[in-house]
Amino acid sequence: MTETNETIISLKHMQKAYGDHQVLKDITVDINKGEIVTIIGPSGGGKSTTLRCINLLEEPTGGEIDFHGENILTPGYDRNAFRAKVGMVFQQFDLFENKNVLQNCMIGQQLVLKRSKEEARKIAMENLKKVGMDPFINAKPSQLSGGQQQRVAIARAISMDPEVLLFDEPTSALDPEMVGEVLDVMQKLATTGLTMVIVTHEMGFAKQISDNVLFISGGVITEQGHPDQIFDHPKHEVTQRFLHNFRKMDF
Ligand SMILES: Nc1ncnc2c1ncn2[C@@H]1O[C@H](COP(=O)(O)OP(=O)(O)OP(=O)(O)O)[C@@H](O)[C@H]1O
Ligand SMILES: [Mg+2]
Repeated sequence: MTETNETIISLKHMQKAYGDHQVLKDITVDINKGEIVTIIGPSGGGKSTTLRCINLLEEPTGGEIDFHGENILTPGYDRNAFRAKVGMVFQQFDLFENKNVLQNCMIGQQLVLKRSKEEARKIAMENLKKVGMDPFINAKPSQLSGGQQQRVAIARAISMDPEVLLFDEPTSALDPEMVGEVLDVMQKLATTGLTMVIVTHEMGFAKQISDNVLFISGGVITEQGHPDQIFDHPKHEVTQRFLHNFRKMDF
């Protein structure tokens, strides 16, 4: 959590519509270097769509995505170079089942970053160590628990040297006893200066880790701010109601 004022990604009035269904109406936020930004809010509010637009899995239908001050939606912009700088960790781990743990962490480095096999192996090993998965390099994903698979997915993502790493509910598919090990890895990662944008329903975690919290509902950022403000003094009624319902579940 090393906050600086250098903005890496700036979303300006970003919109996304599917036909006449306007899913994102106005998403405007700066993501600064080293910041941990969490996105919370009700189901269907547009959290995943926001992440998927940021890494261009979905094409925004309006507004801008500026990366180091340049609008990546401008025709002719080198989108592949941008994509290589923005990693994503999904809810469903998304590992290659026919490859072992080490291969999963090497293949993108070799294909996309054109690293040699030796270099890719070295970097993969370093990152697998960081997430505590180095003893499992020969295992296939199906032989691992969900928490272990997600830690491998995180090692794979950081092996690509992203400038920004996006997480879409990385612990939602896990059995409760495995949530902690993945949150611990993310917490550790946050101290390395990596910029992270995390969609989560883990409110205690979000409160603890975030520099900036976005509450997204109905396709807009209803409110955003420091976690103390959002969690302890939410201004908007929808935010208050949402957090009240979570508190009943004891976070
Ligand atoms: N490919 C699509 N085509 C049409 N509508 C879509 C598509 N993807 C998402 N939507 C709609 O966009 C809205 C926002 O969805 P999104 O997945 O971004 O919500 P979310 O905040 O991530 O919700 P959750 O907490 O349930 O994951 C929903 O109404 C959803 O049905
Ligand atoms: Mg979602």
